[in-house]
Amino acid sequence: MTELFEYEVGGRKFLLDKGKAKEAFEAKRVICGRNSPEFNVMPLKYNWAYEIYRDMEANHWLPQEVPMYDDIRQWNDDRFLSDRERNIIRVGIGYFCSAEGIVGDCAQTIIRENLTAPELKLAVGRHVQEENIHTESLLYMISSLRINPHEVSALFLSMPSVIKKNQTITKHLPKLRRELDLTQTENKQLFAKTIFGITQIMEGTQFFGLFLPILHLQREGKMPGMGQMFRYTMRDESNHIELGRKLFLALLEENPDILTPTFKQELIQFMRDGIESEVSFVDDLLPQPIAGLSPDEIKRFVRYNANRRLMALGWEPIDDGKGKFIMDNPFPWSAEAIYLKKNENFFETTVTEYGKLSNLQEVKSEEELFEGIEV
Ligand SMILES: [Fe+2]
Ligand SMILES: [Fe+2]
Repeated sequence: MTELFEYEVGGRKFLLDKGKAKEAFEAKRVICGRNSPEFNVMPLKYNWAYEIYRDMEANHWLPQEVPMYDDIRQWNDDRFLSDRERNIIRVGIGYFCSAEGIVGDCAQTIIRENLTAPELKLAVGRHVQEENIHTESLLYMISSLRINPHEVSALFLSMPSVIKKNQTITKHLPKLRRELDLTQTENKQLFAKTIFGITQIMEGTQFFGLFLPILHLQREGKMPGMGQMFRYTMRDESNHIELGRKLFLALLEENPDILTPTFKQELIQFMRDGIESEVSFVDDLLPQPIAGLSPDEIKRFVRYNANRRLMALGWEPIDDGKGKFIMDNPFPWSAEAIYLKKNENFFETTVTEYGKLSNLQEVKSEEELFEGIEV
C-alpha cells in the first residue's frame, strides 16, 4: 500500500509517496544522477538551490520600470557629462552586451544541461533568465540614449585589454555540451572549471571592475536610471555568484576526485589571469582619474573581490604582486549599492513588489525528512 507523508517547504505542502520520495532523493546528484521526466523536484536535496531560486524570483525587475528621462537629458548635455564619462558608459554597455551573452550561453548550454538534480536545473534556469533581463536592460539603454550599437561594439573590440579579458575566460571554457561523459575525472574538472570561471571569475570578479565606475557616476547624480539598472543587475549577480559557489562546492563534495592539488593550482592560476586581464582593462578604461575615482582604487577593488571569492571557497587569498593581500573594500558604499530593496527605488515608478515571494521557511534536514521510513 502506498504510504503518503506531508512535506512542507516555503509555506507549501506536498503529499508525497514515501517510497518514491526517498528513491528520488537518494538518486539526486549534481551530475550523473537520475535524470528522468518523472516528478522529483520534491523532496529537495539541495535546499540552498531552491532558496536562491526563490530569492532570485523575489528580486524580479523589469528595465522599463526604470525611467531614463534624466539620463537622456544628461547624455546630450556637456554640462552634465564629460567625454571621459561618456566613454565609460559606452564601454560599459559594449562590454556587458558581450559578457551577458557569454555567461547566459554557458549557464544554459553547459552548466544547466549537465546538471541532473531538478532543483539545480530550476535555479540555473532562473539564472539564465536573469541574464536575458540584463541583456534587455542594455537594449533599453541603447535605444533610450540613441547609441549606435555597432559603434559601441567596435569601440569595445578595438581595446586589446577587452579582447584579452574575454579570451581569458573563453579560452578556458571547455567544449562541454550535452551527453559528455561526466564520469571521467578530466571531464568533471572541465565542468568544475566552467562553473568557477563563469561565476567566480567573470561574474564575481571581472564584472565588478566595470560596475564600480558606473555606480560612482550614479552617486554623483549622473545617469541615474542607468545606475539604478546596474544596481539591480549587481544584486542579481550576487545571487549568481552564490549559486555558482554552492554548486561548485557540492560538485567537489560529491566527486572527491576533481580537486587534486594540481587542479586546484590550475584554478588559482585561472583566477590570477582573470585579475590581471581586468587590471589592464581598468588602465584602458580610465587612463586618468575622474573626480573621486582613481584607477588604482578600482584595481584594488578587483583584487578585493577576487580574494572574497577565493576565501568563500575556503581557499587562500592572492597577493597583488607586491606581497600585499587586499582584504578591505576600498569602496564600502558599493556594498550598500548592491543590497538595495525594490521599494528603495527613489523613482516615481510603478514598481511591482515581488519581495513577498521570498518568505521561504526553513526546510527539513534529510534525517527529519525520512525519519522512521524504511525503504
Ligand atoms: Fe548578468
Ligand atoms: Fe550573472
